[in-house]
Amino acid sequence: MTRKLFVTTALPYANAAFHIGHMMEYIQADIWVRFQRMQGHQVHFVAADDAHGAPIMIAAEKAGKTPQAFVADIAAGRPQYLDGFHISFDNWHSTDSPENTELAQGIYRALRKNGLIFTRNIEQFFDPVKNMFLPDRYIKGECPKCGAKDQYGDSCEVCGAVYLPTELKNPYSTLTGATPVMKTSEHHFFQLSSPRCVEFLQQWTQQPGRLQPEVLNKIKEWFTTDELGHGGLADWDISRDAPYFGIEIPDAPGKYFYVWLDAPIGYLASLKNYFGKGGPKAKYGEARSFDEFIADPSVEQVHFIGKDITYFHTLFWPAMLHFSGRKVPDNVFVHGFITVSGEKMSKSRGTGISPLKYLQLGLNAEWLRYYIAAKLNNKVEDIDFNPDDFVARVNSDLVGKYINIASRAAGFISKRFGGELSGAIAADGETLLAHLRAGRDTVRELYEDREYGKALREIMLLADRVNEYVDQNKPWELAKQQGQDARLHDVCTVCIEAFRLLTIYLKPVLPALAAQVEAFLKVPPLTFEHVAQRLGAHGIGEYRHLMQRVDPKLLDALFEPAAVEAEKPGGEDIAPVITIDDFGKIDLRIARIVNAEHVEGSDKLLRLTLDVGEPKTRNVFSGIKSAYKPEDLVGKFTVMVANLAPRKMKFGVSEGMVLAASHADEKANPGLYVLEPWPGATPGLRVR
Ligand code: MSP
Ligand code: ZN
Repeated sequence: MTRKLFVTTALPYANAAFHIGHMMEYIQADIWVRFQRMQGHQVHFVAADDAHGAPIMIAAEKAGKTPQAFVADIAAGRPQYLDGFHISFDNWHSTDSPENTELAQGIYRALRKNGLIFTRNIEQFFDPVKNMFLPDRYIKGECPKCGAKDQYGDSCEVCGAVYLPTELKNPYSTLTGATPVMKTSEHHFFQLSSPRCVEFLQQWTQQPGRLQPEVLNKIKEWFTTDELGHGGLADWDISRDAPYFGIEIPDAPGKYFYVWLDAPIGYLASLKNYFGKGGPKAKYGEARSFDEFIADPSVEQVHFIGKDITYFHTLFWPAMLHFSGRKVPDNVFVHGFITVSGEKMSKSRGTGISPLKYLQLGLNAEWLRYYIAAKLNNKVEDIDFNPDDFVARVNSDLVGKYINIASRAAGFISKRFGGELSGAIAADGETLLAHLRAGRDTVRELYEDREYGKALREIMLLADRVNEYVDQNKPWELAKQQGQDARLHDVCTVCIEAFRLLTIYLKPVLPALAAQVEAFLKVPPLTFEHVAQRLGAHGIGEYRHLMQRVDPKLLDALFEPAAVEAEKPGGEDIAPVITIDDFGKIDLRIARIVNAEHVEGSDKLLRLTLDVGEPKTRNVFSGIKSAYKPEDLVGKFTVMVANLAPRKMKFGVSEGMVLAASHADEKANPGLYVLEPWPGATPGLRVR
């Protein structure tokens, strides 16, 4: 029976490029998806950027962009990773989309109608400068236990104390430095603690085959204690106050959905967007609408996620779907984390490896797919990327055992037998091929169960058998012997047939290589159906080397810490060197601003009257109107270029120039700062 699968990976936050952890998740899911497609099943494999939330809003602001432009820039960087590692998503979308807005608001309305939404006032820290409620991560202060400075709102990194943000001494906003004030606001909650929810989730989570045993154990703990150690499932705060980059809550002006409410709905939004583009129709002749498809009980909905987001996917998400009258997920497959040489992924330099650098150095994407697959199982275990281990697995297994089979036989087929395989095979060859074919069901089950490490071990054992056969028959010696042509043809044909079978088994992991093999063997795209097939007297192409060994030097280069792109100070290079005499030509003087006023007809200039210790004041036009009010300048001291040639302007003659600092790219980095001497300086003193 043809299965219909709707498969997703977690939606990555749209505030950073992909790291190797993301790629591991995509590779895990992609192997499963490709395997299912090879079984003839219909798969819709989608994801999206998770665009909303306070951190992205703040990051966008820092970058001087709108949140929409900011996430669009991140989205533009996605394809080079996804294509580069052969991740076969059918659609990539965004949670900041019309589909998601409509779906999220619809699901919220249905939950409300179902009596599971309530509101309650909560008191929270508020930044009076930024005029926004502060998520805990933007509050720091002194530890209430040990007094250590600059500690976050949840726990102390010095003494390990755990506390509430409100318990911090001298708290401050990390956004503005302001002292936060307590402010009350109405929040919307999803009543996860209601007996209906608890009962439904007990039943949903315990459905046999739905979740991994260790995930189920974790959930059992959550049913009795929540993440904070309080008893049972807690109600979920799903609203945030403006300003917030998110989706508006219907009938609640100024309130937005908390990002984690609309994020998983993004799975549906991406699928809906894909249906809107006619994807499923074109690919599988799917005639139904998105709404009909997603409601079909026989469609399997499968989510691949990392262990850190289990709570959201196994409690909130199924409850949201069920109580809004929708179909629930069939499986949530949870994976562990990938570390690099034993170290946790971190943004700081020296740890982690960049997937993009991997590709740019010319490392083969399928080496990584193979290596990660070899390490993966269906448990929630962490795996480690170890460079020596990587080189060993790729060179001795992938190239040494598998690729070598083709390279040892293909030359003879083309040189000695006109590129044609033999129609008949001797008994020993048939036995070997039968053994390889018999491995099919085991390999199939292991892929289905996401036991990729075991699947590859099984396949490599089969490859070992083929290599034993090659070593016993020594085609290179047969080739030198008289009268052994038929045997040589036979042995090389067996090798090519065996190579074809192994390629089928490896294809979910090595899709690009498999495509090269298909071209070389002149066969249509291989599926598990083709295991039973025999090529017979079939013409194959010229063999070109399919895959190189890894040069360990490339891995050294990969691990070299990235040269930090030196930031230009203030956005520009320091000007060419001058001598002290050059500098001496510029006469800088302390000036007192006697008067400052607007200039009629100019939106940039202020007219300054400056006392530079001369009998007469000077008139200077200065382009600082955007940064200062005239009344704030009067009486202040500053520095002026006193020997600049007078300049005739539209509004009068300017007799000098006031010094001010600004960034080279004023648009991206606005801000203009007039220089002010330390107290005590008097008009006319020279600056040297
Ligand atoms: N935006 C949320 C997910 C919303 S899903 C509706 C998020 N994004 S994330 O970018 O932080 O993580 C995306 C996925 O990458 C998650 O499944 C996460 O577990 C996974 N990984 C993040 N670091 C990882 C490793 N070091 N190793 C493996 N996977 C890791 O969470
Ligand atoms: Zn402390």
